[in-house]
Amino acid sequence: MTRRIGILTGGGDCPGLNAVIRAVVRRAEHFDVSVFGFRNGWRGVLDSTVERLDRRSTQGILLRGGTVLGTSRTNPISEPDGVARITETLEVHELDGLIVIGGEGTLSASRVLSEEHGVPIIGVPKTIDNDLGGTDFTIGFSTAVDVATDAVDRLHSTAESHNRIMVLELMGRHVGWIATYAGLAGGADAILVPERSFDINKVCRHLKRRHGMGRSFSIVVVAEGAVPAEGTMALPDYETDDFGRPVLGGIANIIGPEIERQTGFETRVTVLGHVQRGGRPNAADRVLGSSLGKAAMDHAAEGNWGIMVGQDGAHVTTASLGEATRELKTVPSEMFETARVFFG
Ligand code: F6P
Repeated sequence: MTRRIGILTGGGDCPGLNAVIRAVVRRAEHFDVSVFGFRNGWRGVLDSTVERLDRRSTQGILLRGGTVLGTSRTNPISEPDGVARITETLEVHELDGLIVIGGEGTLSASRVLSEEHGVPIIGVPKTIDNDLGGTDFTIGFSTAVDVATDAVDRLHSTAESHNRIMVLELMGRHVGWIATYAGLAGGADAILVPERSFDINKVCRHLKRRHGMGRSFSIVVVAEGAVPAEGTMALPDYETDDFGRPVLGGIANIIGPEIERQTGFETRVTVLGHVQRGGRPNAADRVLGSSLGKAAMDHAAEGNWGIMVGQDGAHVTTASLGEATRELKTVPSEMFETARVFFG
């Protein structure tokens, strides 16, 4: 019988995390399970920094962005004695298992802890990047797309007034979900994503052709992780984080001047950055967070560990942590082809 569980939010924050925490706590009441929140992701489990969560302490958090538990990019596997410290924390607090709300890095670490060390974990997928398998959408993605689309809309009116090319850089470390959705929703004239390497010379020819047909402005949306075709452009050497992944940002500052040089059109650059991760969750993320939080608690009550809950159409589904993290979920080419129809 599950009696006590821990919960944590790891990796980059996003809108909708508090909806999950609230749902877990509320559903736990039904099973008479006590919930303990760890501070700052895996760091809190390693350091045993924990607080009891109940209806009262989670009241009013549904609308709030970020995470009331705090988060960090701590990789528990690479910490000295990481696994032993995690096991000890679970024992000390007499926890039957953990609900881990995380993205690719946090849930990959969860998979190792679960499969190789027997730590009882249920994953809940969140990341604005939407790159996890085992779910149609991750918590945070929908709100990020709303924010990014608003940015494209706003750039449209100023681009039009000044006869300029606007380059908008959006987040998306390995995949171009946000760029493709916001670019399509906002009517971008070119979208550059990590899934398809781009040739800057071709992009410039396309923009010149467009302007040659009488268009006075263009919007180029680029995912931060977009990759230039070999031999076309050099990118900076990015630093890496605790999980060995590049800390991206700034590709638009290289692309923008090159577009201006090649096309002769005045070009301006916007790097939207963490604005995409901040603020209140939209309705879709509140609903997704609530339903996945409730489902995670249902599975925890049954002792069904080693899985990640996810969305499959209008239903909640489950996948093993291995299946969910095996490969990144990339933007399907048909989606990108739809966006391309409107580049002209
Ligand atoms: O959480 C995903 C993400 O927002 C990526 O899109 C981005 O590359 C990264 O996190 C930024 O991380 P940080 O907040 O650590 O700068």
